[in-house]
Amino acid sequence: MPVAVCSAALPFDVAAALRGVAEVRAPAAGRMSRAELLAAVRDADALISLLVDRVDEELLAAAPRLRVVANCAVGYDNVDVAAATARGVAVTHTPDVLTDATADFTWALLLAVARRVVEGDALVRSGTWAGWEPGQLLGAPIAGRTLGIVGFGRIGRAVARRARGFDMAILYASPRPAGADAAALAARRVSLDELLAEADVVSLHCPLTDATRHLIDRRALAAMKSTALLVNTARGACVDEAALVDALEAGDIAGAALDVFEREPDVHPGLVASPKVVLAPHAGSATTAARAEMARLCAGAVRDVLSGRRPAHLLNPEALR
Ligand code: GLV
Repeated sequence: MPVAVCSAALPFDVAAALRGVAEVRAPAAGRMSRAELLAAVRDADALISLLVDRVDEELLAAAPRLRVVANCAVGYDNVDVAAATARGVAVTHTPDVLTDATADFTWALLLAVARRVVEGDALVRSGTWAGWEPGQLLGAPIAGRTLGIVGFGRIGRAVARRARGFDMAILYASPRPAGADAAALAARRVSLDELLAEADVVSLHCPLTDATRHLIDRRALAAMKSTALLVNTARGACVDEAALVDALEAGDIAGAALDVFEREPDVHPGLVASPKVVLAPHAGSATTAARAEMARLCAGAVRDVLSGRRPAHLLNPEALR
């Protein structure tokens, strides 16, 4: 019986989904450490990995029987896809099923930072709130303002659809025009520089690649309005965190809401200390339904590859030729 290693306990019965196809080895709770994972994949035919697992040359070399890596995330910057392809290992990911959850959460963060929800919560809990005051916790207006979306894929477009309900003008920066979808949303494609200069809220929805690492750097932050807000539910390294801390301190931008960080789980102390920042623990897809569907997709991919079928959401079809 082939062996499928699942690096974490998932909110879906992977073993039941793979009954008769593979013996599933997964921790009863929590997730495997790097050392545990490297040991576990030694005789694995399939791996269900998390975005925090580095699926690199070292891991692939430690897993000579591996045929498929099903990455339980839409982002796959943690996987060396080229190295997997060179070894004939199929790589899949989990788009679509987390789009709404992540777009909803982007809006939760956007509104939280604009209207200072976390500061308000802390004030009420502190017992020091002395009652309503006209100048208390004034925030930024959102309705009717301009939203700049960087990366106009599934999640970026879902965030834009929600923005229509707030009567926002929508700008997007993307390597490709979005065609009919953009027209339906009245979204205008502009250069990144134009977007940074015009948007009241800049929201990141691009994958992390060599081209997007530190896309939001000192220069980009200086180009934003001093009243603008930055929201990042994409990948932490798309933003230069040290530059962001400086920009917030200098008043170059008004605030930031961050779900992702450059060196998770570490967070730059300047962000932790800043009242202008709302922080979340990489929870964009964290709904019961989305996380279960992501795991179900991964089990399906493992089942398909081990049964000689082409899986959905295959990132490297060349690996199966
Ligand atoms: C979450 O960050 C994902 O890529 O699924």
